[in-house]
Amino acid sequence: MGRVIGGEVIEDARRRGRVVLEVLPGDIVTSLARETALRLGILLADGPIEKPAPVKTDGPTAARRVLYKRSARWVAPGKGPHHRGRRFTKIACVGAGGVGSNVAHLVATAHLADEIMLIDIAPGLAAATAMDLNHTAGITGVGTRCNGGEDLSLVAGADVVVVTAGQARRPGMTRADLINVNGRVIGQAAEAIRTQAPDAVVIVVTNPLDEMTVKMLRATGFPHGRVLGMAGTLDSGRFRTALAAAAGVTPADVQAITLGSHGDEMVPITSRARIRGRPLDVWLPQDQIDACVKEAVIGGGQVVALKKRGSATIAPAHAAVELLDYMRGARQGPVPVSVMLNGEYGIRDVVLGMPANLGMSGLLSVEEMRLTPAETKALHAAAAAVRTRLEI
Ligand code: LAC
Repeated sequence: MGRVIGGEVIEDARRRGRVVLEVLPGDIVTSLARETALRLGILLADGPIEKPAPVKTDGPTAARRVLYKRSARWVAPGKGPHHRGRRFTKIACVGAGGVGSNVAHLVATAHLADEIMLIDIAPGLAAATAMDLNHTAGITGVGTRCNGGEDLSLVAGADVVVVTAGQARRPGMTRADLINVNGRVIGQAAEAIRTQAPDAVVIVVTNPLDEMTVKMLRATGFPHGRVLGMAGTLDSGRFRTALAAAAGVTPADVQAITLGSHGDEMVPITSRARIRGRPLDVWLPQDQIDACVKEAVIGGGQVVALKKRGSATIAPAHAAVELLDYMRGARQGPVPVSVMLNGEYGIRDVVLGMPANLGMSGLLSVEEMRLTPAETKALHAAAAAVRTRLEI
């Protein structure tokens, strides 16, 4: 049985934004409908209209091309869709303190690796934590094997080494105050990684982050793509948390990243940040945006001030695992990570947080996103500060 298409059907189609209305055999079109269609510019087409074949695209690639390459409004996604991703064979954590043990916990719980090796100089700590984690397997049923010990040679054969060892800040200290003491720790870890895990990708978490990543790179002699520093994912997370709280939305509604150094010269990218797809100034006055930027910069220090001993552990561990997820393909697209630059953004021979594409072998490419002149200037200032601290 056909439909009776009256004037109101045409008006409804117009309200829905249609420009063509399909008339099927057996439909009755009133003369008022025809007049209305003429008046509203709606074409009455004899149907059935052949439907176009669905366009076949590779979703992530197409989205990335559109969002990232072409649009000046692109900003790194907060939380991409989850894919299954690959599993690592062996992840070694050098340092089994707060961050290292939380990384191991997250990796074990999500079964991101067949084996986790925890290493710490504190007698018994790594072995005890590994045992504790293995006991969780009886509850979760997850099959990651955890082992631990004190000898750095236990990194042997790891495909990824996450280095968290070193001293944490105490209240009143900057991350840069740790450069000498933690530089020695990085030197020892690097020697073991160079000799025992020569094919590993190293993720440095030890502070001061950018400087320690440079030290790791130099001491291992690894290609620059295999030495990454974790800071951008942590700082971006703090920035998104602050923006979400200020705007009264959930962090998943916020897309924003921070680049630059993991310290006072951090560069939260406000020009590309979006809340529910709209620029920040649609949601927040400038003084609140400035306060969110400040929260990203000082968030780690606030945790240190409250704790008195030690720094944040849980968010940094999640942020390190976020890098693992990008490496193994469980998350797609560029992610902020500290890498040695070779002319990108006009900066070279220094490590700085930049949006980059990662794979199982480490860095694939640094993405050049369009920034404001002020943001670019801030990145150059961050590069200069890291250089000065490293005396290069
Ligand atoms: C922080 C330390 C880990 O930002 O640098 O919490």
